[in-house]
Amino acid sequence: MVADDLHRGRPFRSVLYIPGSKQRALEKARGLAADAIIFDLEDAVAPTEKENARAAVAAALAEGGYGRRTLIVRVNGPETPWGAADLAAAAAMKADAVLLPKVDAPEDVHAAEALLERAGAPADLALWAMMETPAGILRAREIAAASPRLAGFVMGTNDLLKEIGGRFRPDRLPLSTALALVLLAARAGGLVCVDGVYNAFRDTEGLRRECEDGRDRGFDGKTLIHPVQIPIANEVFGPSEEEIAEARRIIAAFEEAEKAGQGVAVLDGRIIENLHVESARRLLARAEAIAAMAAESADG
Ligand code: COA
Ligand code: MG
Repeated sequence: MVADDLHRGRPFRSVLYIPGSKQRALEKARGLAADAIIFDLEDAVAPTEKENARAAVAAALAEGGYGRRTLIVRVNGPETPWGAADLAAAAAMKADAVLLPKVDAPEDVHAAEALLERAGAPADLALWAMMETPAGILRAREIAAASPRLAGFVMGTNDLLKEIGGRFRPDRLPLSTALALVLLAARAGGLVCVDGVYNAFRDTEGLRRECEDGRDRGFDGKTLIHPVQIPIANEVFGPSEEEIAEARRIIAAFEEAEKAGQGVAVLDGRIIENLHVESARRLLARAEAIAAMAAESADG
């Protein structure tokens, strides 16, 4: 399944939006430590720039140089003058995934998939969905299951807050139910799930708090709008040295107990079961993928 393959072993701590119309940012991103990039053709691009942005993103992807980063193209919606042409072009781009905006229902995924396939999209091109409308949030589970290509959800918190009629609050109370529903649907369907953006990009303390909130809820990472936000998201969503050491101890303690013919172990006065070992192994695999990415950046 496409979704499983994309998920496996890749970090999504920091997912940076780049307006497709900003040539300088397209180039700069090759040297930024973001785990994934969203090349935006939608809301970050002015109507007069849509065609230029599409061509610029295609050219940047063809040129390459983005290393192990997951490369995602966000297209315009089907109701716009650009949506169908974006999908046809994206089918031929050297991207890992196409991100659909404002997905309300499984039919939106089916329609995009049909257009991509008619345009010759390869079998391993994944689909991601923006979760940012009340209708879409309420059908998140069905959307997650709409296609084997569906590999990720991105929270669109700005659009959603506008649609709900709520206000920004640092504790994100007005968004809490939606965040939880989207996460549950993503996990039930085995999808990557990335949190919304933090608009005040110079407010690093506010960003850190919101990253911690997203991490504790279960998100894999955060979408970002500016390079200064990358190190904070990488730090908050990445496993710490202490967590890595703890994971190794958990695995060792469990293997020791297994050798002695026991199904559970005790470490520091806490019970260790198979589920803890699975989480520990997943954490170590993620740490390895992050280290491989960092080594590649260090190589230039
Ligand atoms: N990706 C890559 N590089 C980026 C970037 C991004 N999202 N945002 C800024 N940069 C680069 C700039 O090109 C500039 O590079 P340079 O100094 O080497 O020339 C550097 O980072 C500093 O940029 P800065 O001057 O601080 O930002 P700005 O005032 O030009 O732009 C924003 C601020 C918010 C308009 C801009 O960051 C942006 O367009 N972000 C993305 C918005 C978006 O995609 N929204 C859609 C989803 S919500
Ligand atoms: Mg949006």
